[in-house]
Amino acid sequence: KSSALRVLVTGAAGQIAYSLVFMIASGQMFGPHQPVVLHLLDIPKMQEALNGVVMELQDAAHPLLQSVIATTDVRTAFTGIQVALLVGAFPRGPGMQRKDLLKVNVNIFREQGEALNKYASRNVKVLVVGNPANTNALTALTQAADLPPQNFSALTRLDQNRAQAMIGEKVGVNVNDVHNVIIWGNHSLTQVPDVTQAFLTQSYSQVTPVVTAVNDDKWLKESFIPQVQNRGAAVIAARKLSSAASAATAIVCHMRDWLLGTKDGEYVSMAVYSDGSYNVPKGLIYSFPVTCHNGEWSIVQGLKISDFIQDKLNQTTKELQEEKDLALSFLSEKK
Ligand code: NAI
Repeated sequence: KSSALRVLVTGAAGQIAYSLVFMIASGQMFGPHQPVVLHLLDIPKMQEALNGVVMELQDAAHPLLQSVIATTDVRTAFTGIQVALLVGAFPRGPGMQRKDLLKVNVNIFREQGEALNKYASRNVKVLVVGNPANTNALTALTQAADLPPQNFSALTRLDQNRAQAMIGEKVGVNVNDVHNVIIWGNHSLTQVPDVTQAFLTQSYSQVTPVVTAVNDDKWLKESFIPQVQNRGAAVIAARKLSSAASAATAIVCHMRDWLLGTKDGEYVSMAVYSDGSYNVPKGLIYSFPVTCHNGEWSIVQGLKISDFIQDKLNQTTKELQEEKDLALSFLSEKK
């Protein structure tokens, strides 16, 4: 019997966590034979709500859930963790400037990066979900000098899943038959959904490129891309709350693929530490197509990038570089 994996979820009294923690406890993230200890962190004013989540976790009676540590203390939360799902962040309020939002979150992720460095397992795998996710991951990483930068990532899998589902819908195939849709860059409006490499299987007698099956360049450029980019806003407009169950599902996909590996020939999108691939500046947390084996991701190399896509990559790179510069300027200020 394998020993329990210590998994931290921050923002544990929030919306996403309310789906996510039950998925983890039921074995969807790490498989049906891996027991877990859940570490749940939220801020003091959420303590009571957090207690309620703990009660429901008990009531769900999942056999893989060995125990729960629910706390508002950062040190207790981060001690010994092997997986860190950093979901909690400061939300953007009405009238709040992007810059002010970034500043508050730099302070949160600075503290959490330090806590990872001091208290977490040396090979902790970190997924940042709280927005601005890429730059929050970068902030945490800069404070964790003793941990490999390859252990930090940010979530763009929800964007990938949205794009994949949209293509499936368009051509009338199951989402499982849509492969290698890529999200490049920032988890923001400048993200670049790219179907150049994507293909369909099964229901088609042979492997068919998505571009051929869709056969509508105008739709791909002028409908598909903006619809993927704006899907989060569409959900907020409809639900008056941001995507939560679909975000939790994407978090499960991201971590499961990272730890248990991707299928042969299959790419998934993860925002990870750039090594300079595709001329993306080294050190940005940038969404790339990756494959995962033995708990390590590697960026898929040698893909052909069209001028149309390259132009969009430049825009998302520029945005991430600006966010990084701003974050670093806040980090250089005294606490
Ligand atoms: P929510 O507002 O329901 O929950 C967030 C929770 O985080 C709250 O309980 C809050 O008290 C807590 N929190 C705030 N600061 C904290 C800190 N320093 N330490 C621990 N907990 C803290 O929000 P929801 O819907 O669960 O979303 C969480 C984040 O995920 C948001 O930033 C949202 O923008 C982001 N998001 C990212 C997606 C992605 O694809 N990367 C998709 C959907 C949401």
